[in-house]
Amino acid sequence: MIMSPSIIDLAIRTDNLKKTYREHSKSPVQALDGVSLSVKRGEIFGLLGRNGAGKTTLLRILTTLIKPTSGTASVFGLDVQQHGLEVRKQICAVLQENALELFLSVKDNLTTFARFHSVPTEEREKRSLRAIEQFGLGEHKNSKAMDLSGGLKRRLQVAKVFMVDKPLVFLDEATTGMDPINKRAVLDAIREQANQGRTIVLTTHILQEAEELCTTIAMINTGKIVATGDVNAIKALGSTVYELSLTFEMMNDDMIAQLRSLNPQRLERKGNTIHLCVSGMESNVLDTISRLSKKTKLTHLEVNTGTLEDAFVELLGKSEENPT
Ligand SMILES: Nc1ncnc2c1ncn2[C@@H]1O[C@H](COP(=O)(O)OP(=O)(O)O)[C@@H](O)[C@H]1O
Ligand SMILES: [Mg+2]
Repeated sequence: MIMSPSIIDLAIRTDNLKKTYREHSKSPVQALDGVSLSVKRGEIFGLLGRNGAGKTTLLRILTTLIKPTSGTASVFGLDVQQHGLEVRKQICAVLQENALELFLSVKDNLTTFARFHSVPTEEREKRSLRAIEQFGLGEHKNSKAMDLSGGLKRRLQVAKVFMVDKPLVFLDEATTGMDPINKRAVLDAIREQANQGRTIVLTTHILQEAEELCTTIAMINTGKIVATGDVNAIKALGSTVYELSLTFEMMNDDMIAQLRSLNPQRLERKGNTIHLCVSGMESNVLDTISRLSKKTKLTHLEVNTGTLEDAFVELLGKSEENPT
């Protein structure tokens, strides 16, 4: 088979991928509605979207667990439907439903998984110690998996995929349910893995996670990609969004009502300070603020362009056909 180099440089490519779930006695659900995307080698690619957006469905297709209804997907140039076996040799995944060996200890979960993937004995030992250290599992290394908290279980699942040398790793909401300190360790570990040349595809509905970690992001909403690009480019999409912090000498309900009339995506009041996030005409926003400041002294003003979260709200808000 002859493939053009541009395709080989890609870890993943999908073209107009669609998936409709059809179950007896239920109406069909279109989980993916024409997803076309590409992931370059060595990227940490974040698939960002709300619950039910279609993230897990896309991962299930890419990991050969389910077939698309139409469209194509390839991993390192190999079609997932035609070359499922070869594709599986290239990948490792933590999916939401992944189970641990509950009766085995943390350490044995790691080494057993590595043995299953034919990692030699000495190497297994070495890697399990490294993973235990890297993922902060030292205290728990002899605990049975069933005795771990939910967050620790997730951490162990993520640690497992890094026991084996696979160039492409999928993590489905792997950082969900971890406390911030644990999360930090896991995020650092994932980043280090990417620096070593692996391609990592993760899904999350947590914006900050995607913003902190990913090099490229695709936002998915009701089965469609609504934005894709590097993190900074996506942020720029939200640059018509302003984050303002205003402190007035005094504050009353009428002033808040005027600020609300700008249709802010967010408005929080703390004493005499208002944080708000508005999109749209700059002049409108400035007019309102200057009108307010004529009545009451504005003691402090801060303006930031939008964060990724604002871009997300903006984009998903626009693409929502049937808001509920
Ligand atoms: N096995 C299934 N059978 C029927 N519908 C499903 C199945 N899996 C997912 N869905 C539906 O497909 C849509 C996308 O789900 P999913 O891919 O799990 O989204 P996400 O991972 O982004 O939360 C949702 O509406 C969900 O209810
Ligand atoms: Mg999911």
